[in-house]
Amino acid sequence: MGLFDVKIISEHFGVPEAKGLEYYERKGGYRNARKACGMAPESIAAEVQASNLRGRGGAGFPTAMKWSFVPKDADTVYLVVNADESEPGTFKDRHILFWNPHMLVEGMIIASVALKVRNAYIYIRGEMAREYQVLQAAIDEAYAKGYLGERIFGSGTSLDITVYRGLGAYICGEETALLSSLEGGRGWPRLKPPFPAVKGLWGKPTIVNNVETIANLPWILEHGGKAFADLGTGRSGGLRLVSVCGHVNKPGVYELPLTVTGRQLIDEVCGGIKGGRKVKGVIPGGVSMPVLAPDELDVPFEFDALQKDERIREVEVRPGQKFDLGGNRTLRTMAGSGGVVVMDDTTDITQAAWRIVHFFAEESCGQCTPCREGTGWLAQVAHRIAFDHGRAGDVDLLASIADGIAGNTICALGDAAAWPTLAFLTKYRDEFEAKVRNAHRPKGAA
Ligand SMILES: Cc1cc2nc3c(=O)[nH]c(=O)nc-3n(C[C@H](O)[C@H](O)[C@H](O)COP(=O)(O)O)c2cc1C
Ligand code: SF4
Repeated sequence: MGLFDVKIISEHFGVPEAKGLEYYERKGGYRNARKACGMAPESIAAEVQASNLRGRGGAGFPTAMKWSFVPKDADTVYLVVNADESEPGTFKDRHILFWNPHMLVEGMIIASVALKVRNAYIYIRGEMAREYQVLQAAIDEAYAKGYLGERIFGSGTSLDITVYRGLGAYICGEETALLSSLEGGRGWPRLKPPFPAVKGLWGKPTIVNNVETIANLPWILEHGGKAFADLGTGRSGGLRLVSVCGHVNKPGVYELPLTVTGRQLIDEVCGGIKGGRKVKGVIPGGVSMPVLAPDELDVPFEFDALQKDERIREVEVRPGQKFDLGGNRTLRTMAGSGGVVVMDDTTDITQAAWRIVHFFAEESCGQCTPCREGTGWLAQVAHRIAFDHGRAGDVDLLASIADGIAGNTICALGDAAAWPTLAFLTKYRDEFEAKVRNAHRPKGAA
């Protein structure tokens, strides 16, 4: 069996019976939840620590470290699973919810024992109607069998899981906005710190984890944290679900080793670029993440590898002006949500950039000025450039608006609009300038 054939979460994707409890148990399901109920919380946390599991929701934050922030003397701790998945280009969590819902429920039981949680929630994106139905049916089955509710598996542990359906706001995927929405308020992000692990839902310590993050836990308990770490590389354990869309022959959701490079992903996994064309750019982790140019694709699509690039500490966004993201954050890019968008050489990069900033302008919650005003301006100027109305100075103006947003907002949506814009401008600047130079000219004019 090759490394590409190892699967943790996706083995039964596409098998209709796999959604049901009977099939899941026949394949060994709920064995580890049962085991967890007899374990000390610290022992479970130690396995997660040894596994090098990192959050699959976007930032790749080490899961065990996040869990360790919960105050030891907390009387109430909540677990909230983030199933909002609204990042354009990302569609892997919905596959787990639809094809393998019991693995998520089992992972939630394991996490709840480790964190001493009595009440857990799943915040699911409102538009995912069929996924919601499948998930709720799985939860109902688990209740009927005594795997949820009072004294589960006949143990001393009790756990209730409530599914809450969002109403289609992208910002409600941001963890603090999600918690506000779950409390019945407006989905507005809150300043951090305090982080939710210390002060979250209804002011109580709350762990917010992504669907895929939690779905990995049964495997970790079955095989041990070290085996999970060994499947990965460096500081990142396990495999990763990636959703690939755009100009490839075989778009879809794939569970892959973290060492797979962008080029391997396109050529070996996705059957190459459609029509044998050339690749022009690849967004590696949802549209919040800066694009990679064709000569940057021989890097593993792994958290640290994509982020770290000693060559790029600062980036020249316009002649003579450097943009410095500070610390170890570079303009290279990030593995983000695992949503890979592949663009071939027919793509008008200026239009792609406009489409992305337009999305963020629509989805800004409007709470802080640099994001509310800045994303709107980004969208307007990017539209001018992309659709042949660009004015002299617009390329620099776009960079300067993005520069003004980055790092100056309450939540990361502002950065999510600014960073990709700056990356597009840095890597495809000639294309933006040519668009402005040729603005207002009739098509085909010399
Ligand atoms: C604007 C914005 C949208 C986000 N949307 C999602 C989302 O849809 N799903 C998700 O899991 N995380 C999303 N996140 C990240 C969450 O805030 C949070 O970091 C994540 O759910 C933590 O889970 P993890 O540690 O398991 O990755 C978003 C963040 C931002 C700033
Ligand atoms: S950065 Fe944007 S989305 Fe986030 S809080 Fe500020 S206005 Fe709202």
